[in-house]
Amino acid sequence: MEIAEIDNWVNQAISAFASAQNLEELKSARLAHAGDKSPISGASRSLGTLPADERAVLGKIIGDARGKINASLEARTSALEIERDSVLLVQERVDVTLPPHRSKLGGLHPITIIKNEISDFFIGQGYSIAEGPELEAQWLNFDALNIPADHPARTMQDTFFIEPLESGLVLRTHTSPVQVRTMLAQKPPIYVICPGRTFRADELDATHTPVFHQVEGLVVDRGITMAHLKGTLDSFARKMFGDEAKTRLRPSFFPFTEPSAEVDVFFNGRWIEWGGCGMVNPKVLQSCGVDTSIFTGFAFGMGLERTLMVRHGITDMHDIVEGDLRFSAQFGSGI
Ligand code: PHE
Repeated sequence: MEIAEIDNWVNQAISAFASAQNLEELKSARLAHAGDKSPISGASRSLGTLPADERAVLGKIIGDARGKINASLEARTSALEIERDSVLLVQERVDVTLPPHRSKLGGLHPITIIKNEISDFFIGQGYSIAEGPELEAQWLNFDALNIPADHPARTMQDTFFIEPLESGLVLRTHTSPVQVRTMLAQKPPIYVICPGRTFRADELDATHTPVFHQVEGLVVDRGITMAHLKGTLDSFARKMFGDEAKTRLRPSFFPFTEPSAEVDVFFNGRWIEWGGCGMVNPKVLQSCGVDTSIFTGFAFGMGLERTLMVRHGITDMHDIVEGDLRFSAQFGSGI
């Protein structure tokens, strides 16, 4: 083995490392000039076959040569790594001043939010949610509720009748038919609320809308009195309007409750009309097959639009029905 040959391997290795343009190329150069199959490694391995004095001399020369090769490899490796990193830094640069992608997730309408709030409250009191169709049988919307044929609520002005008129269908004018449906479907004790859409032939103006929402409450159980009704309304009012809220009942008339009352709520220092209520008329209980010698019940009904308007000082119904996001977004997403 010539010493010149060893120098040659060193020079070849150094120039191969220098001409590698990236870490990938450097890897092949390393395998060729410093790897197990490189001439210098072969020379190291053959040292063992030499006599001791020659081995000492040549060993040192090969050791030096390997040192040079490794030093050159290390230097080139770190130079190429720096180069790669700086290219990556530029390529993967994040412009933190760019505006982010903000997609609006959408949210619930304020009426839905308040409906959910009311449902949650009553579910927490052990009630269930009852539902009925918006297209309702006149018999359930009126007759079964003891609303006589000549009652003004039935006239064309209030009720959307469905053609053909013989169909006996109306768009329900209130959620009270769900009382009847519930009592026909299940035996007491009954604790339900029914939130839902209701329809009356009113013009849309600041305080009216032909499509609106009510929440009905119905309780039928042993020994139910007006005191239970009053207590329920008071806690419902506190839930809706805050701890200072209270209710008062004013004598009134609904064919399906006896006695009947208007519910006012005390909010922001004044009494405001909130809804209707009363003890379920025994005639209604009987037409639903409830034994009135055992059971009594109460019912109440409130408008959701009205509740929302009072609570948030909304003065124009258009805001609630028109769906303008500038209005709705103020109530949060409700999710
Ligand atoms: N259904 C009545 C209305 O729409 C409200 C009401 C419900 C009154 C339950 C008494 C009991 O005006």
